[in-house]
Amino acid sequence: MNDPSRQAHWENVYTTRGEREVSWFQEQPTVSLELIRAAGATPASSVIDVGGGASRLVDALLADGFAAVTVLDISAAALAASGRRLGSAATGVTWIVADITTWEPPQIYDLWHDRAVLHFLTSEADRAAYVMRLMKALRPGGHAIIGTFAIDGPERCSGLPVVRYDAASLGKLLGPQFVLVESRTQDHATPMGGTQRFQFSLFRRR
Ligand SMILES: C[S@@+](CC[C@H](N)C(=O)[O-])C[C@H]1O[C@@H](n2cnc3c(N)ncnc32)[C@H](O)[C@@H]1O
Repeated sequence: MNDPSRQAHWENVYTTRGEREVSWFQEQPTVSLELIRAAGATPASSVIDVGGGASRLVDALLADGFAAVTVLDISAAALAASGRRLGSAATGVTWIVADITTWEPPQIYDLWHDRAVLHFLTSEADRAAYVMRLMKALRPGGHAIIGTFAIDGPERCSGLPVVRYDAASLGKLLGPQFVLVESRTQDHATPMGGTQRFQFSLFRRR
């Protein structure tokens, strides 16, 4: 479902708040990088960070030599912020402004990463659309890393309701094509001094 109010919400966030003024900011995407390594990804792997926002994951992947990195987000302002931070290195990244629930993948990827996007999809139709995109975009044998608020994590993020997951409920949503490889929880320290419990699950597509 294309939802203009959804895009307006996120454009407003990224045009009115600095990088460290959003609860999800993290200096180093440590858990994501560990799971990317656990997935066996190499610099030759194609990686898409779905709902990447202004995250520094792309910086870390470029620093590790990854040459085929795509960042997709519903907010053009978020991607522009990452572009400004990266400077000339930004030209080596594919930037896509799209709503993940309506996006048509132009290629297939080895690795799908999502930190805190799926959990905003509160309607069954949007979740089904997300899984359909994941199936279209990820090659068989490829990996998906999905980070969401954990079952005992916050009920809202950025003023919006979220769906909380554990590895089992995520696995049920993704379906039998996905095999759980590893899952862990992380207590994310927000820049405002709070704590948010996340779960990160790594799946392999059969
Ligand atoms: C909580 S932030 C997380 C950003 C980033 N993954 C990180 O770890 O810093 C959620 C991100 O999802 C994006 N987003 C929300 N709904 C989306 C959708 N339907 N399609 C694509 N991006 C979306 C927002 O613009 C925002 O950048």
